[in-house]
Amino acid sequence: MELANQIVTGPDGLLPAIPGPLPGPKSAAELERLRELVYPGTSSGFAPFITDSKSGHYVTDIDGNTFVDLVSSSASIPLGAGRADLIDPLVETMREIGNEDSHGVASKMMLPLTEKLLEITPASLTRIDLGLNGTEVVETAIKMMRRATGRPMVLGFLGGYHGETSLTSALGAEQKETSRAIRSLAAGFAHAPYPNPYRSPFRPPRPGGSGDSTIDYIRDHLLFHAINPDEVAGVLIEPILGSGGCVAPSQEFWDALRALCEEFDWLLAVDEVKTGFGRSGKMFASEIWDLQPDLMCLGKAMGGGVAPIGAVLGSEKAMGGYDDVSTGSTWSWLPWACAASLATIEAYEREPVLENVLELERVGREKLGAMAFRFEEIGETRATGGFQAIEFVLDRESRDRDSELQELVAKRSAELGILMDSSSTSLNIQPSLLMPPDEFAAALNRVEQAIETSVTELSR
Ligand SMILES: Cc1ncc(COP(=O)(O)O)c(C=O)c1O
Repeated sequence: MELANQIVTGPDGLLPAIPGPLPGPKSAAELERLRELVYPGTSSGFAPFITDSKSGHYVTDIDGNTFVDLVSSSASIPLGAGRADLIDPLVETMREIGNEDSHGVASKMMLPLTEKLLEITPASLTRIDLGLNGTEVVETAIKMMRRATGRPMVLGFLGGYHGETSLTSALGAEQKETSRAIRSLAAGFAHAPYPNPYRSPFRPPRPGGSGDSTIDYIRDHLLFHAINPDEVAGVLIEPILGSGGCVAPSQEFWDALRALCEEFDWLLAVDEVKTGFGRSGKMFASEIWDLQPDLMCLGKAMGGGVAPIGAVLGSEKAMGGYDDVSTGSTWSWLPWACAASLATIEAYEREPVLENVLELERVGREKLGAMAFRFEEIGETRATGGFQAIEFVLDRESRDRDSELQELVAKRSAELGILMDSSSTSLNIQPSLLMPPDEFAAALNRVEQAIETSVTELSR
């Protein structure tokens, strides 16, 4: 990817120059004013700069600093920013049709997108419904699970993230703040810990059990003491835990989960809003374990980073037998968002996206692995495709999270020109899926430098 013409490369010769002090003076003034005006819960999380422009995997601020983007707008810009091949069809359709409420009037973009999505997703999925974004389609999936089965309960996972609205924040449980003022009012959800081997509260699976300790817990505890399985509509799960730390469950877990769903006639719904469209190294993470889900939620990368759009796909069992669940909103599947989505899928078909993701995974495993070897403050690193994470701990024995160090590393990395997503449990790294591997390696070198500085600075 070409650097914008004014950018001077830094000491590694590959990446932009190291930014000046952050925030720069122009950004500082705008941030200060915004903090006076914007809801504090939002403005407190602002990055230390104001974006001026984006190109590929670079972000330039209004002070002229350029950063390497390892956040990709919460993994919603899959192939880099500012791509004419995605923007042009969007603009053309905007001119031709403009807006249209696709729940009432189908545009000429709808059928090709529907057919294409059903072609590239698992064979179990035969129907589709429209959405504006990931949150909206998870809401729809929950409503459909309940309607299709006539059962009220949906099983979610501790650590999972699904959105900020009432239903989605009650299903999610990444951090308790997300469901503040909601949890006590939202009935019909139960949670099991996400199958995270590094933080599992369970022992290895018991002899004679399901083969997986999380599923043993659901069977032996939740379903014995608290929940009647015939009141459960199904399970809704991120196939790889995204914001919660890039955790990929084992094959044993998926086999045992599938057996559980089959035994009690539960629907298996996957939230691929973040994993979908190549981030896992497969087009959809469900392919890794050959999950044939009953429902699949898509969003984020589906719009190529240029348009908001989502979809929920379903099997006949989950979506084919009724027509009385109201879904979506006025702006779901705007014709120009459909055009952008189709152009995005075509770009995946044309370009070696998945091959590059596997290279990014290789670089990540090597570099993050070396960091874990070097710094005892790192408890674990993970890399599945373009989903990568570093988890910092106060000590390796207790595995107590070190959020202070994590925040400092994120800050020092930004000062070295690298943007990352400091989430509730880990420092998440989610580059453009087309980022050249050598630049990614150079960016991780700067992250290593930031860890070194931060560890010395905190030296407790
Ligand atoms: C797994 C998952 N599901 C749903 C959502 C909600 O998507 P959106 O915020 O784009 O509506 C997110 C957003 O981060 C997500 O990561």
